[in-house]
Amino acid sequence: MDVIVSVDDFRTAARRRVPRWLFDYVDGGSYAEATLLRNRSCFNEHPFLPRVLRQIAQPDTTTTVLGVKHAFPLILSPVGMGGMLSAAGEGAAARAAADATLSMCVSHFSIASIENLARTVDPARLMFQLYIFRDRAITADMVRRAWDAGVRTLVLTVDTPVTPLRERDARNGFRRLSRLSGRQICQMAFRPRWTLGVAQRSERVIGNLVPYSMGRTLFEQAATISRSLDPAIGWADVAWLRQLWKGQFVLKGILHPEDTERAAGIGADAVILSNHGGRQLDGAVAALETLEANVATAAGRLEILVDGGFRYGNDIMRALTLGARAVMVGRPWAYALAAGGEKGVRDLLTYFHEGLQSGMSLLGADRIQNLQEENYQVPV
Ligand SMILES: Cc1cc2nc3c(=O)[nH]c(=O)nc-3n(C[C@H](O)[C@H](O)[C@H](O)COP(=O)(O)O)c2cc1C
Repeated sequence: MDVIVSVDDFRTAARRRVPRWLFDYVDGGSYAEATLLRNRSCFNEHPFLPRVLRQIAQPDTTTTVLGVKHAFPLILSPVGMGGMLSAAGEGAAARAAADATLSMCVSHFSIASIENLARTVDPARLMFQLYIFRDRAITADMVRRAWDAGVRTLVLTVDTPVTPLRERDARNGFRRLSRLSGRQICQMAFRPRWTLGVAQRSERVIGNLVPYSMGRTLFEQAATISRSLDPAIGWADVAWLRQLWKGQFVLKGILHPEDTERAAGIGADAVILSNHGGRQLDGAVAALETLEANVATAAGRLEILVDGGFRYGNDIMRALTLGARAVMVGRPWAYALAAGGEKGVRDLLTYFHEGLQSGMSLLGADRIQNLQEENYQVPV
């Protein structure tokens, strides 16, 4: 039995449960993985300056994100092919999030289609993440499908004009193949429980892409994706999507305050500061390091969300004290799903919630707004 008391424990359990190529796909970053490491080390740069004796019996962690009530300021980040991690699929993660009064941002490349997920949980608890295809008709159709499914928040990811080398994936032959290699099958033989569980599922391809004949298998689809995405999108495409989408509109993958300024100008409701979990530009700054500058630029015109390296309840608190509206996590829920299916994700969310509550008690913050308004930083 695995004893799980941290995200790192979920990670260890996940490593034991899924084949090596799948674990590495989730766990890895691009090139030297310098940004992946920076996403954790940056947390040491912002020590808390706590207050005591504030008579707080139980801090109130409730908040709203883009008008939707959340039990605490945490959202599941989009993880492409995340449903492969467990026979339970993305539906399990969406249920765990919705039951905890949180939300999930569904990847464009999820195994479960947006329609299936919107039937599983209240679509108000889902956001839909989009990439722009060269074929704009496909993009427009996906936007329409998300709306018809009842989703009202669209998240356009803008930090992926190309996919850089991810050394672990390249070594495992993941992505370039159009079918499983001998090496991958061998790795699967060491994980029979996962292999049998996933093999028995009906959903084994990227559900959102099924209508567009982009390959019959997951591997064929993965190989087609990189050729199909438009590397040359610009602000005009963002403006096009903004007028197409009548709901809340969010840009994910912003780091520079001038891009936040442009997002505000184009009518975005929020930006997600992110370096894509260290999987895109290696050497990029951590989103947390750009948070204060972006919050200052936004000046209340749009909500600022942030992801990358959040592993403790205190990390959520740290982002909020620097002005974020909410925090998102990618790998943590992927590890938890691989480690324990739906229960794994439920336990993970409880872990973050309890961590945030204890952190707020120790910091002296009675509610979320207090974290955002009072200065808990060491004066410089
Ligand atoms: C395996 C994996 C797949 C991802 N797929 C997507 C995706 O399809 N769309 C997207 O916008 N971001 C994607 N991301 C980035 C996450 O949404 C998020 O920005 C990142 O994981 C946050 O860092 P964290 O994993 O340290 O929490 C992916 C991340 C991982 C680990």
